[in-house]
Amino acid sequence: MKPLLLSLYTSPSFLDGFKDSSQFDLGNLTVREFPDQESYIKYDTDVKKRDLVFIVALDKPNSKFLPLIFASQTARELGARSIGLIVPYLPYMRQDKQFLSGEAVTSKYFAKMLSDNIDWLITIDPHLHRYHSLNEIYKIPTTVLHANDLISTWVQQHVSSPLIIGPDSESEQWVATIAKTLNSPYKILEKIRKGDNIVQIKFPNFSDYQDFTPVLVDDIISTGTTMVETITHLKNIKMKVPICIGVHAIFAHHAYENILAAGAKSVITCNTIEHISNAIDVSSLIKTCLTNIKF
Ligand code: R5P
Repeated sequence: MKPLLLSLYTSPSFLDGFKDSSQFDLGNLTVREFPDQESYIKYDTDVKKRDLVFIVALDKPNSKFLPLIFASQTARELGARSIGLIVPYLPYMRQDKQFLSGEAVTSKYFAKMLSDNIDWLITIDPHLHRYHSLNEIYKIPTTVLHANDLISTWVQQHVSSPLIIGPDSESEQWVATIAKTLNSPYKILEKIRKGDNIVQIKFPNFSDYQDFTPVLVDDIISTGTTMVETITHLKNIKMKVPICIGVHAIFAHHAYENILAAGAKSVITCNTIEHISNAIDVSSLIKTCLTNIKF
């Protein structure tokens, strides 16, 4: 029998690409809130002896996580054979060490809770900074896909003479790859985060790149502070108007508007999280990956 694909919180546009797939049956799951805000879960499709694949949008995760866990535990009780999770944006990766005494290292606890409830996981560009692999915290098989090639293609089609800029040391992993594919130069900034909305950035010398279009590439755009600080600096030193690219469009509060107001020519993201800035469709990465799984 084909695996059963179940969507939770996923945008209809992202799901579209999966609906026509002959690889899955599409299942239906009702998730709603009782008036007291507790969750109600009901499978409308028989899951007995089925391999389930949840596709879940887990940005703003706190209110979505518990229903996901309930859905997973319900499926086990109803006799599902296996439960896989496609989570284009994997949250709770940034608190990857105890910065201050008494702090929770939530990345570990989140990974443990997910690992206890599902059998495998596929995600796109998780925030791997102090962890080098998801295996350091996840006990289940994980597959990490990368948006690098799709970002490179977008830049190739839209920007002439790009200078790829990564905001911090961990960004070198994707910035260097994109720059290599494009045969373009790249620069990595040195960023120290001082608070949720405060970053201190040390900039390299850009004097050789006045004729290039700066393309800032980050994995997550959250408060937008990193992008705004960088745009402001580039403006001050009279560089060309930059383009900002993020894989995961978190955009807390007014981050998107703030980046545009700071002077970005455009702000482009992948559709791992639904947002008006989505211009790079990454669903093909997941589809290709799924065709290689033996259920
Ligand atoms: C950092 O650690 C990430 O790679 C991003 O640079 C970070 O999430 C951006 O955050 P914000 O938009 O709040 O500056």
